[in-house]
Amino acid sequence: MLPELITPIPGPRSRQLSAELRAHESRNVTYVSPGFPVFWERAHGVNVWDADGNRFLDLTSGFGVASLGYTPEKIVAAAQDQLARLYHAMGDVHPSAEKSSLCRKLSELTFEKWELGPGKVILTNSGSEAVEAALKTAWLATKKRGVLAFTGSYHGLGYGALTVTGRHLFRDPFSTQLADFATFLPFPDCQHCPFGAIPREPGVCLPDCQNTFLRRAERLLALGTIGTIIVEPVQGRGGEVVPPDWFLPLLRSLADQYGALLIFDEIYTGFHRTGRRFACDHWDVQPDLICLGKALTSGFPLAACVGTAQVMDDAWPESTGEALHTSTFLGNPLGCRMAIESLELLEQKPWSAKVSVLGDYLHSGLKKLQATSSSWGAIRGLGLMRGLEILDAKGQPDAARAGQLVESMLARGIIILSGGVEQNVISFTPPFVITEEEIDFALNELSSCSGG
Ligand SMILES: Cc1ncc(COP(=O)(O)O)c(C=O)c1O
Repeated sequence: MLPELITPIPGPRSRQLSAELRAHESRNVTYVSPGFPVFWERAHGVNVWDADGNRFLDLTSGFGVASLGYTPEKIVAAAQDQLARLYHAMGDVHPSAEKSSLCRKLSELTFEKWELGPGKVILTNSGSEAVEAALKTAWLATKKRGVLAFTGSYHGLGYGALTVTGRHLFRDPFSTQLADFATFLPFPDCQHCPFGAIPREPGVCLPDCQNTFLRRAERLLALGTIGTIIVEPVQGRGGEVVPPDWFLPLLRSLADQYGALLIFDEIYTGFHRTGRRFACDHWDVQPDLICLGKALTSGFPLAACVGTAQVMDDAWPESTGEALHTSTFLGNPLGCRMAIESLELLEQKPWSAKVSVLGDYLHSGLKKLQATSSSWGAIRGLGLMRGLEILDAKGQPDAARAGQLVESMLARGIIILSGGVEQNVISFTPPFVITEEEIDFALNELSSCSGG
């Protein structure tokens, strides 16, 4: 449904709650300004209602979580049933049946689907921890301490995940605290080539980025100290950056050649977000370990690191009674049940096909918008994970303008976010149940926000 605003945004109740939050929540968590935030009260489908009764259209899926839309009936019913029966167990000691079922399901949907045999799972409470579980696994399996990671990447903000996150904004305040095991190579981005290549004709650049990248990667891997390569197949928070077709296959063959394990962080891209079940399926390349989260549960803090049974068994010894990697809430039964139900719904329909069609529709709407002003820069992304760059009069990234657009859109009842390494990309990651009419509405509003 389209937005319905009954107060100016934010309304009086949201403003009151903001004041309370500013008094009692640490600084630097929730961004508060005269136009931001609104406090959510309930949500359904693509809509969110705030504490003042305003209805919003959400183009973020709440950070890419609500791919199925908010509060689908079946997930609510499953969660209510689970809540009444069991919502905590002893994760690594006396777990619930739901944990077991979810691990089996994750194996089926990943390595078994790829015909690589069974997968084994470590469940975690956040994406950042799933990344850390994967990093620990790769270290245990290879005993090589170095990690190859990529500029612009986002893997989470726990110290381990932050160590492999290629974003100065997040790293710099803590740089002296971070370990030195990660080396970063440029993530190939054809719209802003990090190798300085100039396209001569489509797909033919000078210098040849693939060989430039290969030489640099080989020089590093030949040292024999790198046991892990971690990458987002499509960078999400880095600004919806899709790599050229050679990239993932090359990483796979480099990992095999140099005895490193390949981790795909599909926390954002997983479960049809890019128009395939996993983004790596676009290139038919499989990892040794995959990190999953966000849409996995539709909204419960639970994520997973899944590896081939062989890698996981090489890495982790049998437990002697004290797990080497666990946490109090590991495999929470409510989270597991919501994940099982979500995975069932995510498999029940040809979501990838729907996401591709809607993604193409969104892309062509963005193309039309882009043609209207030079302040709209490159369009990026795949499926329902798209980004539009905002540029200033000199054609440079304009983060301030992107921030203003996010606030202006909110004032019109549309929830969007800006992202990207330069913070100048407006991101579109709506629930898969969005309609073409809702997409048109949002793009029209974006156009009129910017005076179009
Ligand atoms: C690709 C990717 N990895 C990891 C994370 C971290 O997940 P979490 O915020 O659940 O710790 C995110 C979060 O946005 C992400 O997009």
